[in-house]
Amino acid sequence: MVLDLFKNVFVSDPTIKRHLVKSVSWRVLGSLDTLFLGWFVTGQVSVGAQIGALELITKMVFYFVHERVWHRITFGLPTRTSKANKIKQDNEGKLFAQHDLINRTQRELLNGHKAYTIWLTGLSGSGKSTIAKALEAWFYEQRMRAFVLDGDNTRLGLNSDLSFSSEDRKENIRRVAQVSKLINDSGSIVIASFIAPFGDDRAGARHIIGNTNFIEVYVDASLATCKSRDTKGLYKLAEAGKIKDFTGVSSPYEIPTMPEVHVRTDNTAVEDCLNEIVSFLQAAGQIRSVSAV
Ligand code: ADX
Repeated sequence: MVLDLFKNVFVSDPTIKRHLVKSVSWRVLGSLDTLFLGWFVTGQVSVGAQIGALELITKMVFYFVHERVWHRITFGLPTRTSKANKIKQDNEGKLFAQHDLINRTQRELLNGHKAYTIWLTGLSGSGKSTIAKALEAWFYEQRMRAFVLDGDNTRLGLNSDLSFSSEDRKENIRRVAQVSKLINDSGSIVIASFIAPFGDDRAGARHIIGNTNFIEVYVDASLATCKSRDTKGLYKLAEAGKIKDFTGVSSPYEIPTMPEVHVRTDNTAVEDCLNEIVSFLQAAGQIRSVSAV
């Protein structure tokens, strides 16, 4: 029973085990040192042994508490970005971009349409995934190659090492933008469905994918509507404090200032949202036949 409790604590946070073992190893070393110093100064091994034994217990406790407190302080720790920049620097001059025999335009010609990324951004529960699926089905009917990248799905695989801190969200969006660009280069359309709550991160995605290939769609539903839908039950958990950094509750959502398309799912049916996006694509010349590409 007690053993199980210990096991669970260690599984929930493996650093506790490390700090415990470090407390013991360091203290044994330190107390042996005290024992010999006490013996050396007083000439009595028993005095050194008594001080060493007392110190072993008291300082082991202090050391463990000290380690646990410092574990929560990020001061002086390298950030994900600083680590990534260091690796980038180390790799400079050692990586060589390979050029394809067949280019993107040829692949677009083969597919019969241009390749670009439609980025759906909005709160959780705003309807991004529903619109993404409807859009993919529409493209399929037009015999155009399109593929949905969805936040929940990519966070279960490619991005399963990322949390919802602002730094990790930035990395989440960066990786997805890089994948979107690769899929676009292969000649296919990407429908990216991600909260992407920060304007800077969305601008970063636009930069990676290329301004002319990036269509930002703001899937707009009021926070009240998203909370009332709460399809995944996450808003309830976030409001009860059981999920930290939850967008709209304990983490901000920066409203897009100049999205290419703005759909309001509060009072617009999915079909109508879809029509608005398709109308934009038609007006922008993004739906063309093979010969016109
Ligand atoms: S993003 O902010 O980094 O763009 P992303 O779109 O990948 O988020 O993932 C959002 C999905 O993760 C939501 O649809 C929701 O199901 C789930 N989720 C879990 N925790 C959170 C959280 N703290 N904030 C927002 N969404 C969360």
